[in-house]
Amino acid sequence: MTPSPLDNLDAQKGELLARIAALATPEELREAEPGIIGRRSILATLQKSLGALEPDQRRDGGALLQGVRREVEAALESRRAELAGAARIAALESDRLDLGDVVVASVRPPVTFGHPGIIAATQRELEDVFVGMGFTVAEGPEVESDWYNFEALNIPPAHPARGLWDSFYVDLGEPETVVLRTHTSPTQIHLMEQAVREDSLPIHSVMPGRCYRRDTPDASHLATFHQIEGLVVDRGITFADLAGVIETFTRAYFGADISSRLRPGYFPFTEPSAEFEITCTICRGEGCRTCSQTGWLELGGSGMVDPAVFAAVGIDAEEWSGFAFGFGIDRCAQMRHQIADMRALIENDARFLRQLS
Ligand code: PHE
Repeated sequence: MTPSPLDNLDAQKGELLARIAALATPEELREAEPGIIGRRSILATLQKSLGALEPDQRRDGGALLQGVRREVEAALESRRAELAGAARIAALESDRLDLGDVVVASVRPPVTFGHPGIIAATQRELEDVFVGMGFTVAEGPEVESDWYNFEALNIPPAHPARGLWDSFYVDLGEPETVVLRTHTSPTQIHLMEQAVREDSLPIHSVMPGRCYRRDTPDASHLATFHQIEGLVVDRGITFADLAGVIETFTRAYFGADISSRLRPGYFPFTEPSAEFEITCTICRGEGCRTCSQTGWLELGGSGMVDPAVFAAVGIDAEEWSGFAFGFGIDRCAQMRHQIADMRALIENDARFLRQLS
């Protein structure tokens, strides 16, 4: 029997099926396909060689070859499906989130509910310091008569010192002059009148509250602002007591590296009077723009209660003496938190408020 080109067909089929099984990706399969069943493949070569055979051999060989081709094609198709499925799974795998790698950004709620504003918080801290030093806390009205805001404080109607306080007057008609208090000092008068009425001297009190001045708001002034007033009326009170209280307060509130100094000043209701300054909280005394290179910042006024004020409320200046001081709560908040522009305190910009909550 003449040797047939199909004698090795089984081995060749086995080789093709092994090649197909070894294909690892859809791309590899696509590249290998023409070499397995295309025009240059061994199957095509065998197909051509059939032409040289006897008709019988050709028919049988053709059927045999056709069967092998179907088998190889089927193997290719199933491998193609397998590889495509595997590729899809691989893609899904690579997309899968490993929860261990996921960081969920924790988002702070944009609004914090129910905390005191910066000025209220500062006022409470200041009160705490003074309460710790033995003071009580008192409050007075924000709308005052001319008597409380000025006259009883030794500022008669035509007195030039009225120019120190640009006032908002409330028109209630003559004869009463009513004013939004320009400072917390009128509360001193209320306290002293009450102590006389109730025969309850001495007084050791601080008086925080809102004040109003016809100021144009700027980086360090607001038309509505807050002060805390201090008043001590007792026997044998001296200027040294005033200086001691101011210094003790300054260190307690601003810190041990901040101290105070008193410089001669003028207020109609204290004599002698002193401006009350503290070490600049920005440069700690070195000298900077905020303190105009002096190393000191003015916080408020102070002095020994003027006998004319004692006379106005009926306290015997021979028996009693006292001191008073007053300074800005907003100014304290500004210095403590290094707020460049005081207007930020009243603008209600949530981004600013959130920083100080
Ligand atoms: N009332 C003064 C002011 O507002 C400050 C002050 C208070 C001065 C008490 C002396 C004594 O400027």
